[in-house]
Parts: sequence; structure tokens; C-alpha cells
Amino acid sequence: MKFKFFIPILFLFVVLSSCKTQQSTVATPASTDVTQIQGGMWIPSELKGKNEAEIKMLGGNLTAEAIYNTEKPSIKDAIVHFDGGCTAEIISDKGLILTNHHCGYDAIQQHSSVAHDYLTDGFWSENLNAELPNPGMTASLIVSMDNVTDKVFANTKNLQGEELNNAIKSNIENLKKETKIEPWQEIQIKPFSNGNEYYLIVSEVFKDIRLVGAPPSSIGKFGADTDNWMWPRHSGDFSLFRIYADADNRPATYNENNVPYKPKHFLPIKTSGVETGDFTMVFGFPGRTDEYLPAIAIDKIVNKLNPDKIKLREASLVIMDKYMRKDPKIKIQYSSKYASIANYWKKWIGETQGLTKTNAVAKKKVLETDFQKMVNEKNLTQYQNILSDFEKLYPELTDKTQARDYFIEIFLRNVDALTLAFQLYQLQRVNDNQGVAAFQKEKDQLMDNIKTFYKDFNKDVDEELFAQLMYLYDAKYARTKLSDEGRKIQWQNIAKELYANSKILTYEGLNGILNGNNKSPLADLNKDPLLAFANEYIKKFYDELNPKYLEVKSQTDELQKNYIKGLKEVFPNMRYFPDANSTLRVTYGQVKGYEPRDGMRYEPNTHLEGVMEKYIPGDYEFDVSERLIDLYKTKDFGTYAENGKLPVNFVGTNHTTGGNSGSPVLDADGNLIGLNFDRVWEGTMSDYFYDANICRNVMVDARYVLFVIDKYAGAQRLIDEMKLVN
Ligand code: ARG
Ligand code: GLU
Repeated sequence: MKFKFFIPILFLFVVLSSCKTQQSTVATPASTDVTQIQGGMWIPSELKGKNEAEIKMLGGNLTAEAIYNTEKPSIKDAIVHFDGGCTAEIISDKGLILTNHHCGYDAIQQHSSVAHDYLTDGFWSENLNAELPNPGMTASLIVSMDNVTDKVFANTKNLQGEELNNAIKSNIENLKKETKIEPWQEIQIKPFSNGNEYYLIVSEVFKDIRLVGAPPSSIGKFGADTDNWMWPRHSGDFSLFRIYADADNRPATYNENNVPYKPKHFLPIKTSGVETGDFTMVFGFPGRTDEYLPAIAIDKIVNKLNPDKIKLREASLVIMDKYMRKDPKIKIQYSSKYASIANYWKKWIGETQGLTKTNAVAKKKVLETDFQKMVNEKNLTQYQNILSDFEKLYPELTDKTQARDYFIEIFLRNVDALTLAFQLYQLQRVNDNQGVAAFQKEKDQLMDNIKTFYKDFNKDVDEELFAQLMYLYDAKYARTKLSDEGRKIQWQNIAKELYANSKILTYEGLNGILNGNNKSPLADLNKDPLLAFANEYIKKFYDELNPKYLEVKSQTDELQKNYIKGLKEVFPNMRYFPDANSTLRVTYGQVKGYEPRDGMRYEPNTHLEGVMEKYIPGDYEFDVSERLIDLYKTKDFGTYAENGKLPVNFVGTNHTTGGNSGSPVLDADGNLIGLNFDRVWEGTMSDYFYDANICRNVMVDARYVLFVIDKYAGAQRLIDEMKLVN
């Protein structure tokens, strides 16, 4: 793809550019280097002008109106917030939606049994009637997104603190009441840019979403944890669902009479492929970024916060892995927990390396020096002390964050018995705060949900996790003077004692306390040694750790809000985008490989050959099914191959984050060319510091998706309802 509009647009940017700062996330492009107009997660209703120009400069033909329009169908009408955490897109006029395999994973698992193991074998519904409902699952479409900052801040000019917050709250309430929406629509007013701006978002939330198809995990999760966050990649990470609506095409809860939703727009799928330099646009719901943190915050993440979180999770993964290798039952019980703990463990390692390698701290400091200089020159007193206040507050915030991290990692993430204790603590509070009727109801619900907990719980594994992680906790915040070895042994003994005597470690035990003939279940809960132990820590979390953390956090939040305001005022031409907050965003870039290390170059595309190169028969991560091997050997690729090779994944410079999973990747004209599912390891730092030289998102090539549906699964009826373009 050539940059057709290069010269006039470049001229525009040179004229606009006056900011000297060259910090990559915020610099205004002053040269012909298109890397400088990449990065950023833009608000779809505000693309007119600058973003539209950048899109053209990168080779895109899409206008702001084609992407977002409330008067006419536009691309945004095909973009789905999938079950609150992922993205999906509509790809047929019958409400067929495409998302990641890992986004549909829970649903696929729920429908699986030993007799129908859809995780292992895949699932392909033969007709509409065979599509499987998923109670509780949602799919939201965005109707409109409007900046309502002025209305939210109306009559607040002279207010501060509590008074200001109350006025904002009441303005938001009034605005919600005033805004006319249809009965089947929902309204949200959300802060953007750390509370400097507010947007009113109207959406339609569909509640009858059915599973249509999923490849086997050997395709959908090929490479699993070893390949996670890595390039080169070879995963067919996709699954298919369908939105159902009532007879009037409106959201409704599950009903067998519901019909496939008729969308305003659906994405055509391009079958002619992608190459280096091609324009790409990712449209979806990124969850969270913190792109404007000061240098000191990044320094603390790199040198203090990430290392300890990595250490805790590593300890936990080593223990789980040891048991999983020995015992196939434990392997099944812990595979999902392991994957989820490993996911961010691995991300943090990559993030730390990336931030270090790109000198993110030093680059942020350059920006800060410039900022302070301008503030002083212009005598902007309201911004004068922001940076020095950050320096004062961050050491304290870091300590509080770390103490909280330890608690969260141990009590809410890694040691199951402590997580259960935490839930039971909440249950006791329900009794204290809402009375015995509420307690009964909560208790019954808990006992219902808790069965799956025990199904995947192994006492030996958990006891060892407890001993090791509590030892690390104690070593960090030592309350006792002991040698390292002595401390270790002490915690092993404590663990042994508690796990031998606690009654909550089996369903029957807990049920015996909470139900049965017990007259005083709460008193008995408190007597359980494990709960008595845990309650002390949990109480400390609520009484001390968390409030102290929140107190400092609210101060740094206020500073951060002011800092962003200051940055925009002092550098009016910088490329500024509001941090991700799970709202609909557009990001664009190019198909491009990268150089992860000196002397090493990554190509941007992978092929089925690579799947076969990685193939390890019988392996839980790298096994390949007979059927795929046959198709490979006979080169039965249909029309989806290019020069005899079947494309599988590709990378690009799109700025994405968690939540963008399942997002469509569009070509210059708005056709679907891929499906976002990951980032490369070296670039996971993009949540704090996007650098187009090294940050890459990882996508499934649309042709691989089509190949699997068509040639692998033989689901012709699904191909027939799509619109394929060349
Ligand atoms: N890293 C991706 C994300 O953050 C994929 C995670 C799921 N895949 C896996 N192998 N655990 O969600
Ligand atoms: N896998 C991530 C998700 O579930 C996307 C990868 C990322 O963090 O960019 O949203």
C-alpha cells in the first residue's frame, strides 16, 4: 500500500507542529516518519479532522462518517462489546458474530462434557436450532457517544473537594433523567481522561447470545502458554456466536422464539490478504491504559511493583506445574487457573523488559523537563508543583500499592483456601450489615456456586501454595525475627496444622457448618482455624491496607487529572488520546514486522508450515489434529492460500490492550482482514508507553478463520451467510 495522500497531509502536520517534545506517545509528527502518527486509542465520534487525516496518510480510505455515524449505518454498528470484557464483530446479516476462542472459552467449556468435549474437539452447529444458548452472556452495540463535559461540570466552577464531587454526581443524575432513550436502550455517563471529560454513551444490550462454532483447542489455543504473548505465532484464536433478538429486532432475554438479529451494518471479509505496509484499523473496547503516568510511576512499576508480583506468581506456577505434571486429574483441575495466573505473570515480565529497553523513564523525564520549563515561563501556577508533588507522593503510593498487591495476589489470586476465606468473610458481613434474611439468601447462593470451586480444588497443592506464598509475604513484611530457613519451616508447619484441622476444605465440611442442624453457623465459622487465621489478615486489609492505599491514591489521581490538563494546555499540538476505559475506540497502524533484538528480524506473517514445524504429537500445547495434517499434506486450502501457503497470523503497529481481544482488523476500505487476539512480548509495555518501533498487536488472518470454518469444519452454511470480497 502506498501513501497516496502523503504530501498535502504532511504539510498540514508540519504547520501544526510546534511542540518540541519527541516523547513517542505524545509527540506531534514533524518529519516524514509515519511511526509518529501511530499509537493512540481514539474516540470514534471525534475522528473528523486530525484522525481522518492520519488515516489517509497511512493509506486508509475511510472517512470519519463511514466509521461512526448516528444518522446512517456505519462501521460502528458492527462492533460488539462481547460479554463485558472482549470485543466481537457482526459478519452477516443474520447477527453472526466473530470473537476470540479465548473470549468464548468459558461458554465452550460450559457446554462441554466427557461425551461432548467441545474444548478438545470443537463445536459446529448444523443449523440455527442447534446453536447453544448462554444464560447471562451479553453483547452490546453502541448507539451514540457524546461529549457531555460541559453539562457535567455546569455550575461547578468555584467548588472543590466533596462539594464538587456532589455537584458532578447530581449533574450526571439529571443528565441521565433528561436524556431520551428508547425503552430497550441503556445509558452510561463515563469519566474520560482521568475525570477531565465525560461522555454519554447509549447502547443496546442483547442478552440472547448463542454459540455457533468453535475450532478445537489444538487450533483455537495452539501454542497455549508457551506461545502466549509471543511472536511468531500460529493460533486460530476464534469462535462464532450469534445475536438473537425479539420479533421487533430488539434486545430480549433468551426465548426459543427469538430470531437472528438483523444488524444495521456487518463487515464484509476480504480474501485477498495483507502485506507489509498495508493500512490496518482495529475497532473495539480496550480496557485500561495509563499512558500519561509520570516517570517516577514507571520507575516504581519497573523496579518495585512488577518484580514482586512476578516473584509471587512464579512461586505459585512452579508449585502448580510440579503437581500438574505428576497427576492428570490435577492437570485438568488447575489448567485454567494456571493459564490465567501465567497470562499476566508473563505479561509483566515482557512489560518490564520493554520499559527498560526503550528507556521509558528517561524519555518521560525529558517530557517533564520541557513541561516544567513551559509552566515556569508562562507562570502557570496551577501546574507549578505537580511534578514535585508526584515525587513526594509516589514513594508512599508505591509502598501502599505493594502491600495491597501482596494481599490481592495471595488472598484473591493464588491460594484457593484464602480466597474462599475471603468469600466467607463477606458472607459474615452480610449477616452483620443486612440481617439474617439476606445472609440466608447469600449463603444458599454461595453453596450453589461453590461446587465448581471444590471440583477444581486439591488440598495438597493448595497447602503448599499457602506455605510458600505466606512465607514470601512474611519475609517481605516480617513480623518475626527468623532465619530464612526457619521462616520457611515455620510456614510449612502452620500450613500443615491449618489444612489438617480446617473444615472448610471440603464441600461436606463447609455445608456441615453452614447448613445441617447448626444453630450458630457464624460462631462455628469463626472457630475454624483457617478462617480465624485468614480473618486477621482480611480485617487488616479492610481496616488499614486498603483505606491507606485509597487515601494516597485519591491524591495522586487528582494530581494526574491536573497533569493531563496541564500537558494539553502547555503542548496543545501533542497527539493526545484519553486512556482506555472499556469504551469503544479506534486505533490504526500498518502491517509490519519488527526487530526484537540486535541482529534479529521478525517477518509480519506466519503460515500453516509454522504450525507443522511446532507440532509435537500428543503435547497439550502443540498437538495438531489428523484432519489439519491431512489438509496440510494435500494442500487442500480452497481459495484461502497465497502462493500455495496458507496464512495463519500477522502483526501490526495497532495500539491495543486487554479488552481488544476479538476486535476486528479492518483494511483501508473497512473490510475485515483479521481478528486481534494478543500483543508481542517486547511490546506489552504499550499500556504505559507505546513505541511504534517495537509494539505490535497479533492478529489471526481472516483467511485462516475462513479456511477452518470452510475446509476444516465443512460449515458451508456459515460461509454462505458471509459476504466475501476480493
Ligand atoms: N495474552 C492474551 C490475553 O491477554 C491471550 C490469553 C489467552 N491465551 C492463553 N494462552 N492463556 O488475553
Ligand atoms: N489477549 C488480550 C485480551 O483478552 C488482548 C491482548 C492484549 O492485552 O493486548 O483482551
